[in-house]
Amino acid sequence: MSSGDNIVVLENVKVYFPIRKIFSVVGYVRAVDGVSLTIKKGEVLALVGESGSGKTTLGKAIIGLVRPTDGKIFFDGVNICELSEKELKQLRRRVGVIFQDPFSSLNPGFTIFRSVEEPLVVNKIGNKQERRERVLKALSDVKLNPPDFFASKYPHMLSGGQRQRAAIARAIISNPDFIVADEPVTMLDASIRVEILRLLREIQHKYGLTILYITHDMATAKYFADRIAIMYAGKIVELGPSRSVLENPHHPYTQSLIEAIPDPDPANRFRLREVILGEPPSLINPPQGCRFYPRCRFFMKGKCDVLEPPLYRSANERLVACYLYETGMSETNRPKHE
Ligand SMILES: Nc1ncnc2c1ncn2[C@@H]1O[C@H](COP(=O)(O)OP(=O)(O)OP(=O)(O)O)[C@@H](O)[C@H]1O
Ligand SMILES: [Mg+2]
Repeated sequence: MSSGDNIVVLENVKVYFPIRKIFSVVGYVRAVDGVSLTIKKGEVLALVGESGSGKTTLGKAIIGLVRPTDGKIFFDGVNICELSEKELKQLRRRVGVIFQDPFSSLNPGFTIFRSVEEPLVVNKIGNKQERRERVLKALSDVKLNPPDFFASKYPHMLSGGQRQRAAIARAIISNPDFIVADEPVTMLDASIRVEILRLLREIQHKYGLTILYITHDMATAKYFADRIAIMYAGKIVELGPSRSVLENPHHPYTQSLIEAIPDPDPANRFRLREVILGEPPSLINPPQGCRFYPRCRFFMKGKCDVLEPPLYRSANERLVACYLYETGMSETNRPKHE
């Protein structure tokens, strides 16, 4: 398989977690259920969806932290599902991860220097002097200046934003090609979020990185990502260039997500906004047909509840899994909402 312009290619990827009772498996949580997706070299792809939709599981599968139940995951042309644990370890040198909570990547008992240096030590990269230079360079890249000063600190001595900068330094220390940033700014004050995302963008440009940005927040996805993939109950329901998806959302679920973005205009602050009604479906026994139909205002009985809609494609790189677009995606058949 040639990778071309894509660094990641997913083909019908499924990740099912078994539910065990005593010694038998009584069912599966279908966290990721048939995802096909490509991530282009050098882009930021946002993966957006509600809590429990399978975003983190999909991100972990791409970097080999979770083995898929079925399907193929190509990383730079190599099907990682066929790799041994040893080979996967080699691959992980080429990827970095940033989590929501910097404490999960920064050991509270380690200095910032030791935490940032650790991936180099584990992967036996460089001698002591070279590693020191690389750590200080990474700290300076994430604007923890002067780097010497921050290197000697412990995580609890830093602010939330500074801790996340240190976590980013750790993620980029081994010069990865690909980074999974899983809700990297969710725990930070709103005022610092944009600052951290701007920094990530800067680093991405400087080092030609590809980033999978996992979030439930459409507003930051719009600001940060080149393309947006919308995930609902283990499936991708819409995908396209960020601006196009935000300005002209096709899937009824995407439309609801966008309407749920708080309106910054004080005049509209108390305007009643339609939010998504009901709960996300069970991933153990998902609804037949389209998984969104029980919450969908455009539900077509005898159609949406029978067979799952495929991903329909339009000319402008847009994909949408909804029968409203069966006959093509045009302004005329786009559902209008008041
Ligand atoms: N190791 C696991 N074992 C069993 N079930 C799991 C495991 N990891 C995730 N799940 C389940 O898979 C589903 C998807 O979880 P996941 O963490 O991928 O969602 P998410 O979209 O990242 O949610 P959030 O926005 O809350 O982080 C959930 O129902 C979760 O409980
Ligand atoms: Mg998650």
